[in-house]
Amino acid sequence: MGNMDHNFLFDPSILADLDYSSWKSSFRPGVSPHTPGQGFKVRPLCASDYDKGFLQVLAQLTKVGTVTREQFMARFNAMKDDKSYYVCVIEDLNKREVIGAATLVIEQKFIHSAGMRARVEDVVVDDTYRGKQLGKILTVVLIMLSKHLGCYKISLECTDQKLPFYQQVGFKQDGTNYMVQRWET
Ligand SMILES: CC(C)(COP(=O)(O)OP(=O)(O)OC[C@H]1O[C@@H](n2cnc3c(N)ncnc32)[C@H](O)[C@@H]1OP(=O)(O)O)[C@@H](O)C(=O)NCCC(=O)NCCS
Repeated sequence: MGNMDHNFLFDPSILADLDYSSWKSSFRPGVSPHTPGQGFKVRPLCASDYDKGFLQVLAQLTKVGTVTREQFMARFNAMKDDKSYYVCVIEDLNKREVIGAATLVIEQKFIHSAGMRARVEDVVVDDTYRGKQLGKILTVVLIMLSKHLGCYKISLECTDQKLPFYQQVGFKQDGTNYMVQRWET
């Protein structure tokens, strides 16, 4: 099975190599996605995050329900094989706990010269760690990742209450409506 701590969803060097210099003034002094805070690290989701509270953090966003280790690993492996899912997390290394997460999903297109678009999904920071710019860090990581991957746009859906949070990192409303049909609450 190998060391689960090293079973990354995607190559961690992709995150390590991103350049955030243009974002310097957006963060408090000393803070950046490469230096998110004392003892904190931004990295791809790992198989071992099942035991580091990843699902408990997601449960602060929406209903997670019961996900067995087997179900988690099956989904992790399917996402890893697919290569379109970039689930990023922040770990508190001292506690060995996931304290934030955000996902970038890449959609392949025929339009835009057979281009790719990126979608932001499932952004959440553990409530005891909010207000430390970790949500902003995760969002900026996804933006720079989508640029690095060559996407022609990045988009997300959010409530009115979260608009200022996303506007501060450059997202704009474009007058489109988000529509949904739901079969499960
Ligand atoms: C939204 C969320 C991810 C923000 O995480 P966070 O780590 O507390 O946010 P940050 O510390 O990075 O905030 C960065 C900035 O955004 C501002 N901000 C944070 N939450 C905000 C909100 N809901 N509305 C407006 N501004 C907000 C902060 O004031 C901060 O400003 P600063 O950079 O001048 O200090 C977090 O509140 C959360 O997990 N909420 C529940 C899940 C959720 O709703 N996710 C979004 C789904 S669309």
